[in-house]
Amino acid sequence: MTDDFQVALITGAARGIGRVIAATLAAPGRVLYLNDVAWEDPPVTATLVEEKGATARLLTFSVTDPAQVEAAVEGIVKESGRLDILVNNAGITRDQLVMRLKDEDWGQVLAVNLTGAFYCTRAAAKPMLRQRRGRIINISSVVGFMGNPGQANYAASKAGLAGLTKAVARELASRNITVNAVAPGFITTDMTEALPEKTKELMLAQIPLGRFGTPEEVAQVVAFLASPQAAYITGQVIHVNGGMLMV
Ligand code: NAI
Repeated sequence: MTDDFQVALITGAARGIGRVIAATLAAPGRVLYLNDVAWEDPPVTATLVEEKGATARLLTFSVTDPAQVEAAVEGIVKESGRLDILVNNAGITRDQLVMRLKDEDWGQVLAVNLTGAFYCTRAAAKPMLRQRRGRIINISSVVGFMGNPGQANYAASKAGLAGLTKAVARELASRNITVNAVAPGFITTDMTEALPEKTKELMLAQIPLGRFGTPEEVAQVVAFLASPQAAYITGQVIHVNGGMLMV
């Protein structure tokens, strides 16, 4: 990609890291398709995106539904003529120790975090292959690389995303499509606010930089991977974790 991108799809963009990724990628002339299962009224992410001069389009569907994912990507191409960037950010947790982990909680986490990213990748690859250009950025997690008690399902999904990233990077590289993952550490959002205080204290003690990260610090790395400057990076997992894990 020698020039700047025009059209992006960001999943799970209603709040948290996805919202900040959208606001960071927003710039005049760009169209950002913002996916989530539900939106507050008015949708804050869309306002932030439009304040920066980009066009925001809301797409309400679950990434777990392959038919809706396909239809959404077809709709984007019909309306905007292309799809340059896909950010697979939608994610959930259903924490429980493995002995007590229910089939449903295993299945749901894998369905959203890993299978959802696969559905979106498969759909987005079509226009990207035609264009001979594209960027796919998956939001993984440090937990996928170091494990965490009570998060067998989440860790498996996030480690799986790294494998998906590398396999698809190899498949699509010859068509000028790069595929990378960003693996955040402990980032302050609704997802982590919900953790028990004791867990938060234990996490903090493991972070050499001595603080939690911000969604902006993750979004800046996503923006770099989406930029022309990152054209020679593919199949990589970029860790943004304050030194919590050094690989
Ligand atoms: P969040 O819970 O604040 O936001 C996640 C968004 O995804 C929500 O808006 C939710 O509605 C949406 N979502 C959930 N299921 C969906 C589905 N089936 N289809 C479409 N959208 C769906 O979480 P946060 O913290 O912003 O996380 C964003 C991503 O970053 C997730 O993939 C998460 O696993 C990852 N991450 C977060 C870390 C953190 O410390 N907050 C650390 C490492 C990774």
